Amino acid sequence: MEKQEGRRIAIITGASGGIGREFTKLMLMENVDEIWAIARNPSRLAALKEEYGDKVIEIVKDLSEPEEVHSIERILQEKKPIIDFLINNAGVARMGACEEFSVEETEAAVYVNCSAVAVLCSMCIPYMKAGSRILNISSASSFQPLPYLNLYAATKVFVRSYSRALNAELKKKGITVTAVCPGWVDTELLIKEINGKKVKFKGMVSAKKVAGKALRDAKRGKDMSVCGMHVKYEHVLAKLFPQKMSMRTWIYRIREYGYEK
Ligand SMILES: NC(=O)c1ccc[n+]([C@@H]2O[C@H](COP(=O)([O-])OP(=O)(O)OC[C@H]3O[C@@H](n4cnc5c(N)ncnc54)[C@H](OP(=O)(O)O)[C@@H]3O)[C@@H](O)[C@H]2O)c1
Repeated sequence: MEKQEGRRIAIITGASGGIGREFTKLMLMENVDEIWAIARNPSRLAALKEEYGDKVIEIVKDLSEPEEVHSIERILQEKKPIIDFLINNAGVARMGACEEFSVEETEAAVYVNCSAVAVLCSMCIPYMKAGSRILNISSASSFQPLPYLNLYAATKVFVRSYSRALNAELKKKGITVTAVCPGWVDTELLIKEINGKKVKFKGMVSAKKVAGKALRDAKRGKDMSVCGMHVKYEHVLAKLFPQKMSMRTWIYRIREYGYEK
């Protein structure tokens, strides 16, 4: 029988979608025995396994449910793996005025985008060794507050700040933590049309490019990964200009979609 304990693994949340799928593909080239692919939709996870093979272990979980997140710890306690990579990629986003969000949707978004990220780090670190890597997917939206993308941008501030500080704390153990901050990425997450108007995404890049750059940056021990000139430029601007000015510019840009007419 195959030895279960001490198998080297990568854990990827949101593995079945855009950026997560690309991370799964990249993990096939790493020296890991298993890739634990976490998402809600079983048929999409089955399709992932079909495409990428038996290394992919499907784990159906809804990361907006605390009990389902906690149940991952029980799998870890049973299998006792060595975690080489933890990629906290699952995330939800929706643009809209604050009154369009129900209490339940607000709570679920904060849980998936923030709590699940921190809880999974906390559960996984005891199974990591020097050289293990955590990649937490934040966003360029974390660079400044964004009205009408308010909740999403704020959750990504949490991820960026949490990850960078965790990286500093874990340095002595040889574990790196990278906050990945993409701009617009061509995936299903993006709403392509708002109020009948086709949305223009400035500087949009592919999921493949973001995942590749993130992994290279993580291996170089960087605490932040910024992909593409456009996002680098936005990052610099966000540091130079007052946030009130950035917010006004953003509101001006989204007026054409019917916000703040
Ligand atoms: N696309 C962009 O422009 C962009 C820009 C910056 C940052 N990001 C960030 O990048 C990450 C990946 O986004 P993406 O664009 O690749 O999105 P995507 O194509 O929509 O994929 C999202 C993945 O997360 C999973 N997921 C969503 N809610 C979940 C939940 N409650 N529990 C478990 N899994 C869940 C989805 O699978 P199921 O539906 O089967 O659960 C899917 O596999 C997110 O954190 C996002 O915020 C994206």
